[in-house]
Amino acid sequence: MFRPLALIAVLLAGPAFAAEPTPEQIEFFEKRVRPVLVEHCYSCHGEKKDKGALRLDTRDAILKGGDSGPALVPGKPEASLLVKAVTYTNPNIQMPPKGKLPAEHIAALTEWVKMGAPDPRTGKTTADNPYDIAKHLAAAKDHWSLQPVKLPAVPKVAGASRVSTPVDAFLLTKLEAAGLTFAPPADKRTASRRRRKRWTPSRRIHPRTPTRN
Ligand code: HEC
Repeated sequence: MFRPLALIAVLLAGPAFAAEPTPEQIEFFEKRVRPVLVEHCYSCHGEKKDKGALRLDTRDAILKGGDSGPALVPGKPEASLLVKAVTYTNPNIQMPPKGKLPAEHIAALTEWVKMGAPDPRTGKTTADNPYDIAKHLAAAKDHWSLQPVKLPAVPKVAGASRVSTPVDAFLLTKLEAAGLTFAPPADKRTASRRRRKRWTPSRRIHPRTPTRN
């Protein structure tokens, strides 16, 4: 019996090695595969160098392979040069050359090839690649929140007598640059009234408001 619905379901599910990876496959690639390639392979098989005429930083490049042909056969780890290289099974190609990867990385690469090597790196070069971790890491190094904590020098201010904590000095430098200074301290009654009426943490920390000289 011909069952068109079943056929459609099969077509929709796609072949095992469909061009479009599923979200789970992408997650596997991003978590377990890409970091290994970036850290252990790109330096010799990427934008700067292509040892053995092989680049490993795009899907097309990996499938095309290098001097010895395709670096992997989707679904077939045992037939894939990349897997042979990282498992050190071929005495002529042992990658990375300096020493075997940790077992979990080798297992991840093997598993990835076995599942059909789903690969979202469809750009022509690493630079085209919106997910490129190496690029983002390099950019992230300059981000302010990742800089080491430093104690800045406390600035010298004209109205030093008004400074009671180092924070005051920082506030006052900016105020003085704008021709302003702190408001005069409130007398005891006013201060206590303000505290009672409109106490908020921020008022407690910055009890002064700027005024014109
Ligand atoms: C320090 C540099 C270096 C690093 C890092 C490196 N390789 Fe290589 N790779 C080479 C050189 C050089 C060759 C070609 C010469 C040879 O056969 O040894 C090569 C060749 C290969 C080949 C065979 C290419 C062909 O078609 O002949 C594969 C596959 C390969 N590398 C995979 C990897 C993988 C996967 C990684 C990361 C786990 C990696 N390499 C890391 C230097 C490196």
